[in-house]
Amino acid sequence: MTTTLTTARLILRPLAETDAARVERYVSDPDIAKMTLNIPHPYPEGEALTFIRSVQLRVEEGNNVVFAITEQGIDDCIGAMSVRIEPAHNRGELGYWIGKSHWGKGYATEAARAMLAYCFNELKLHKCMARAFAHNPASWRVMEKIGLKEEGLMRQHFMRDGMYIDSKCYGLLREEYLQGS
Ligand SMILES: CC(C)(COP(=O)(O)OP(=O)(O)OC[C@H]1O[C@@H](n2cnc3c(N)ncnc32)[C@H](O)[C@@H]1OP(=O)(O)O)[C@@H](O)C(=O)NCCC(=O)NCCS
Repeated sequence: MTTTLTTARLILRPLAETDAARVERYVSDPDIAKMTLNIPHPYPEGEALTFIRSVQLRVEEGNNVVFAITEQGIDDCIGAMSVRIEPAHNRGELGYWIGKSHWGKGYATEAARAMLAYCFNELKLHKCMARAFAHNPASWRVMEKIGLKEEGLMRQHFMRDGMYIDSKCYGLLREEYLQGS
């Protein structure tokens, strides 16, 4: 995948092996890991390179799109934005994180809005959805700000660190996106 997405302040480009050190530094932060399902904590040394290689394979297989989020003019990866596609349902699920030193600047919202446009305009998906732990308002605020509609609460749907966790579901249909844009 060679696609890049440009927003007012950001460039979303393919995740590269050269991003490994930065990814590792950011996702080693427990405040990032604890809000995600798949980022281990403590984060094993060298895991980011393994993760990036596995992402590249999944991207090549065609049902995942994963971008490194960078600030314009600085190529350093400060976060990631992904969509996992379920071809049988023509539906994509967004996932994202932003390095903590860059929180609160609207970057996740800006990157997610660009990804949503890519999903509907380029990938022609019928639906985009996202899920976040109920105790992660920063994430469900991002979903609300990009126009996803709350679809419900999945009670004790996930287990993280030995605790059952409620998950909030958000989604947007293609026709709703096209009406709103
Ligand atoms: C969720 C995350 C990506 C948000 O990144 P960000 O760039 O800071 O997000 P934005 O600045 O675009 O928007 C965050 C919104 O959440 C709000 N917010 C942040 N913390 C909040 C809190 N504790 N309670 C309520 N709202 C909160 C912000 O005020 C902002 O909303 P506003 O613009 O209406 O004020 C980032 O916090 C992160 O990486 N968290 C850890 C990983 C994660 O949760 N990933 C998502 C898993 S589903």
